[in-house]
This record gives sequence, structure tokens and C-alpha cells, in this order.
Amino acid sequence: MRILAIETSCDDTGAAILLNGRKILSNVVSSQVSVHQKYGGVVPELASRKHIEMIVPIVTEALERAGLTLEEIDGIAVTQGPGLVGSLLVGLSFAKSLAFATDIPFVGVNHIEAHLSAIFLEEKPPRFPFIGLVVSGGHTSLFRVDGFGKFKRIGQTRDDAAGEAFDKVAKLLGLGYPGGPIIDQLSTKGNPKAIRFPRPILRKNFFDFSFSGLKTAVVNFVKSHPESPGDLPEEMIRNIVSSFQEAVVDVLVKKTFLAAQHEGLKRVVISGGVAANRLLRKRMEEEASEQQIRVHIPSPGFCTDNAAMVGVVGYEYLKRGIRSPLSLNAFSNLPL
Ligand code: KG4
Ligand code: ZN
Repeated sequence: MRILAIETSCDDTGAAILLNGRKILSNVVSSQVSVHQKYGGVVPELASRKHIEMIVPIVTEALERAGLTLEEIDGIAVTQGPGLVGSLLVGLSFAKSLAFATDIPFVGVNHIEAHLSAIFLEEKPPRFPFIGLVVSGGHTSLFRVDGFGKFKRIGQTRDDAAGEAFDKVAKLLGLGYPGGPIIDQLSTKGNPKAIRFPRPILRKNFFDFSFSGLKTAVVNFVKSHPESPGDLPEEMIRNIVSSFQEAVVDVLVKKTFLAAQHEGLKRVVISGGVAANRLLRKRMEEEASEQQIRVHIPSPGFCTDNAAMVGVVGYEYLKRGIRSPLSLNAFSNLPL
């Protein structure tokens, strides 16, 4: 079964073609970073416009790279939400039009389920059940995952997502956008123990997160210096971001493994843009080997937004005969 998958939930236009939900025949992502960079964050209206511009060339390129024509596609999968509604609508309307014109079955996919399923693109995917951490620009949630479509959410952020905190701290310090990869890189040259930032809500058996207090602690630390944030000495900036990253990673690792213990599970999957973070990946691996738990993390390109992960989920549903109606709508807060 060949699935054409489309992802436009935020600021990346993605199209991929998957064979039997696992083998990638093509996976194309067009990033809009250059569009949003000068605003220090995603501007929703500009994101939708760029998706409109890119959707046809990106889908065409995905077909070309796979060496296929539309007639050889058996199913279409598209992100239905959560995300920016204007962005989602571009991909969804395009997918629905294509399905209508060609009579190819189509299905809407939840973006969070897609992130959790990106691990099935890797050579040695985990068996169910596992603890899944989705940690991105819009989400920080822990799930017990018993199968495709079988999720129990056991924790989530009460305010900012972890990626959002990375982006806001980078913006405060004038480092650029998106903040996550910049802080990841800068932190390698900083001292993670230089500043003891708070580790929010690390109580046992409590799996919600909160990152806004940590962000405020960074703001207050910066304000306590006479220089404006952009004029702070370089070494201090490196120490701030490194100490901030250390605090975020500490919380994510501890809560994830506490959740695994609580659910009695020996497998953990990490996904979403922040799962590309090198320190987070390293700490997760270290903790896993200490606790004799297996941790599975997709390669960085499958952690950030991409259409291949949408294809994994789409395949699972389409092969069971599940299809979406052409009346399907996009929802910015689609629950999982
Ligand atoms: O999953 P994603 O591409 O989009 C959403 O669904 O949100 O995640 C984007 C987020 C951004 O906040 C970005 O700063 C963060 O993931 N991110 C990182 C890294 N790469 C991307 N955060 C920390 N370290 C990274 N290496
Ligand atoms: Zn995402």
C-alpha cells in the first residue's frame, strides 16, 4: 500500500510517500524559518500563505522522488490537528480536493499521534505498550501507548511547552529563531551548573509539567543585570542557556522515567522537535541504561515536523478500512 502523506500543522510544508507504512519512498520538508526569523516566531498568516505557495511543488516533488504518479497512490493521509488552523486548512483542503478528484481514500491524522509514531520509521521500532513523551513547540505530554489509536494521557504541561520555552528564552537573549537548535548548540560551550534555575513540579507520581516559572526565572536573572539582554557578555549568555537547558532536560528525564515506573513499563519513546536536543537524548540514554529500560528516540529529522510520520499513522488506519469523510474539518486543539 502506497500512502501519500501531507503535513502542514505549523511552519513546515511536508509531503512523503510510504510503502506499507514503514518504508520511505520519499520525504520532502520545506522549512519556513527564513519567513518567520525576523519576527522571532511563527506568524500564522504568513505561514498559511507560504503553505499555499509550497503545497503543490512539495507534493509534486515527493511523487517525483518516489518515481510514482498519483494513479499509483493507494491512500492519502493528512494532518487534521492540533496546530495553527490556517496552516492545517491548507494541507487538509489540498488532501480532500485530491481525494475527491481521484477517488483515492483519505484519512485525517492527529499530529501528536504522528509524533508518537515517528519511531516506527526506524529500523528497530519498539513493541507496545510504552511510555511516550511528546515534547515539541506546542506540546509537552506523557502518554501510555498500548497500540495505534490506544493512548492514555498521564501528564501534560500546564502552561508553556518545552520547545516554546526554548524559543522564548532564545528570543529574550536575542539569539534568533527557532531557539531550540540554537540553545542546543550554544550550550555545548556553557557551564550547565553556573546558575541553579528551578526544576518545576518534580513531585513523585505527578506527571504534569510547567515551564513558565523556569522561563520567568531566566527573565528575572537577566533583569538583575544592568546590561540589556543583547549586551550581556557572551560567556554569561552561554551559561544562562546551558543552565536553562539543564533544568528542562532534568525535568523531562525524571518525569518520563517516573511515569514508566508508575505504569510498570520497560520501554520509553521520545518524540517531537525537542527530542532532537542532544543533551536530552544523551540523558535519556544514560537514565535508561541505569534503570534497565529501553529508550527509543527517532533520528532528529523524524523528531521535528515531517510528513513521513503522518504516513505511518495514516497507513495503520487506512489498512483497517478507516477513512475520513470529505466534510472533515481542521481543529487547532484536536485532542488525542
Ligand atoms: O515538533 P516540532 O517541529 O513542531 C511542533 O509540533 O511544535 O517542534 C518544534 C520545536 C521548536 O520549539 C524548536 O525550538 C524545538 O522544537 N527544537 C529543539 C531542537 N530542535 C527543535 N529544541 C531543543 N533542542 C533542539 N535541538
Ligand atoms: Zn510537531
